[in-house]
Amino acid sequence: MSSPESNTGEHDRSIHQPVLLRETIDHLDLHPGQIVVDGTVGGGGHSQAILEQIGPSGLLIGCDRDAMMLNFARLKLDQPNCHLVQTSYAQIPEVLAALPPAFELGSQPVDRILLDLGLSSDQLQDDSRGFSFESTGSLDLRFDRSEGIPAWQMIAEMNEQDLVASLQQGGEERFATAIASAIVNRRQHQPIKSSQDLCETVTAAIPSHIRRDSRKHPATRVFQALRIAVNRELDQLKTALESAIPDVLKPGGRLAVISFHSLEDRIVKRAFRSDQQWEELTKKPVEAMPIERRMNPRSRTAKLRVARKR
Ligand SMILES: C[S@@+](CC[C@H](N)C(=O)[O-])C[C@H]1O[C@@H](n2cnc3c(N)ncnc32)[C@H](O)[C@@H]1O
Repeated sequence: MSSPESNTGEHDRSIHQPVLLRETIDHLDLHPGQIVVDGTVGGGGHSQAILEQIGPSGLLIGCDRDAMMLNFARLKLDQPNCHLVQTSYAQIPEVLAALPPAFELGSQPVDRILLDLGLSSDQLQDDSRGFSFESTGSLDLRFDRSEGIPAWQMIAEMNEQDLVASLQQGGEERFATAIASAIVNRRQHQPIKSSQDLCETVTAAIPSHIRRDSRKHPATRVFQALRIAVNRELDQLKTALESAIPDVLKPGGRLAVISFHSLEDRIVKRAFRSDQQWEELTKKPVEAMPIERRMNPRSRTAKLRVARKR
């Protein structure tokens, strides 16, 4: 757990629109007085709706790895029964063990947990983070900038074989070999420092007919792979589903997970179906209604799965 920074990015308030908000709240089946952990509090959109349901007798604990997002969340969730911590959702047991005594939680398990994975629109908009393809700032891609190494450093230091493996594992990128080779060639003459630098290199390595025909930006999978690698996102999710969350959720308690790409969704689906600790409540993932898809394009790839702890 690191200490919060003071900046709140390029705007004063979070511009992030929570996805599948009504569906998530309905599936969590919240009641007054419950103890809820929002493991990815972000701009606080889902948390605000959770607080309305659990009322003043409930307790909300919000985690996020990103200090900027916690600053946004604080503006929205300024209530005595809300406690925010900069950490990963994989550390929820440590967060609960270190809660201030005023919350009187003791070793009580929690009633509900939410994970809304990935990144927020606020992070995407912040040029200094490198999440957007057009960004001219540093290619960082970390949620917590006080931990690990930024993506520009990772791709400067990684050997070509490991780069290929990273792009295949975290992006299922079919042109991984050509892209890794283009990155290695470019860095011999010129460092890849910004997202724009990376986009140019990736775009040039992909056959032009594929670039033309694709509905997605040609660098989408590469950015996803690098972000997953620098933040160790899939390991965090596996740890959370296997032990961190079942260890603190009460029997009958619910976990809701919103994922945005197939690698994450596969991990959640597998855990809910094959791990005896979970009883899956959503046989098919819940997806956004047409109106939400139109209003909030981020919701188009969102999948919500919910399970009950046995
Ligand atoms: C999609 S946003 C959440 C938005 C939030 N539900 C809202 O309504 O505003 C995802 C958030 O998860 C955070 N995050 C990503 N990985 C994390 C992790 N392992 N632990 C905690 N937070 C994480 C990101 O920094 C980001 O703020």
